[in-house]
Amino acid sequence: MLAPLLLAASRSGRMRRLAGSTPMTRPVVDRFVAGETLADALTAVHSLTRHGIDVTLDHLGEDVTDAVRARATRDAYLRLLEALGPEGLGGRAEVSVKLSAFGQTLPGGHDIALAAARTVCEAADAIGTTVTLDMEDHTTVDSTLAILAELRRDHPRTGAVLQAYLFRTEDDVRSLVGRGSRVRLVKGAYKEPPSVAHQDGHEVDRAYVRCLRVLMAGDGYPMIGSHDPRLIAIARELADRNDRARDSYEVQMLYGIRDAEQRRLVAEEGLRVRAYVPYGADWYGYFMRRIAERPANLTFFLRSFTTR
Ligand code: FDA
Repeated sequence: MLAPLLLAASRSGRMRRLAGSTPMTRPVVDRFVAGETLADALTAVHSLTRHGIDVTLDHLGEDVTDAVRARATRDAYLRLLEALGPEGLGGRAEVSVKLSAFGQTLPGGHDIALAAARTVCEAADAIGTTVTLDMEDHTTVDSTLAILAELRRDHPRTGAVLQAYLFRTEDDVRSLVGRGSRVRLVKGAYKEPPSVAHQDGHEVDRAYVRCLRVLMAGDGYPMIGSHDPRLIAIARELADRNDRARDSYEVQMLYGIRDAEQRRLVAEEGLRVRAYVPYGADWYGYFMRRIAERPANLTFFLRSFTTR
């Protein structure tokens, strides 16, 4: 009951302003967000890579409503990639982008977002790394997959996220299992209507496993984007069944969630693990989706408004 309300709040401008103006929310936000600056992000990258965990960095922002902000987001990614290169992190750090932050939903936004993503892919290539396109609400999926196809012509390692809760995803997975294809499979984090997405958690899990079977049997590079121990166990079983080498797939988790497990999977199980590290000032939408996934987190968040 609570999750849909929280997801609706994640898109409320008023709530965004209220949360942003309350400094006491900061410690709660810090659990899920590496900080506001590029320097904060690099500190998190160093600490994770020291533990053998690779990273994908997200400069926070989404749903931009003007071209100036869209260009600013693109430029933030260019600065990030410029900073990662000399640190020799190109091999271990990639970037994740939300096309709505590049202007995808503006008039003519498909082409604006494609041009920005192309520039970021070129900068990523230059330091030996790559880009993954995050997936947002279902209205953007066709545009995002079309942009992916365009980008992969010149940058074949560009990755995409597919969301198991969408009915269409089993077909999308089948079209992205070829050699070189990088797909991060997630359950899905947006509020979607019953006409397009499974609403029941068990149905989502079952759909996830069906997609996983196709990805693990394919020739691409599956990225298991989940903290769910059952799904990770199934992924490993499928990897064995398909004779996959340990470096032919990876597990991905979000910064601040199941940290000890991320380190254990690397140190004790020899798995390749990547943490998704968000940073930047525009944390509200991302943060609210993390709260909606686990409403127990809400208690800590609300307490931060009342404890002074
Ligand atoms: P589930 O929600 O069942 O969680 C399993 C366990 O993980 C929980 O029991 C709890 O222990 C822990 N956990 C999970 N979420 C937590 C939280 N917020 N706080 C504390 N503990 C938590 N979605 C999307 O729509 N588009 C995208 O592009 C992405 N990108 C993405 C990248 C990566 C690397 C990950 C891991 C996830 C995403 N997601 C996403 C989010 C995804 O769709 C999903 O909402 C979350 O991963 C939660 O689902 P789980 O598979 O972890 O299972």
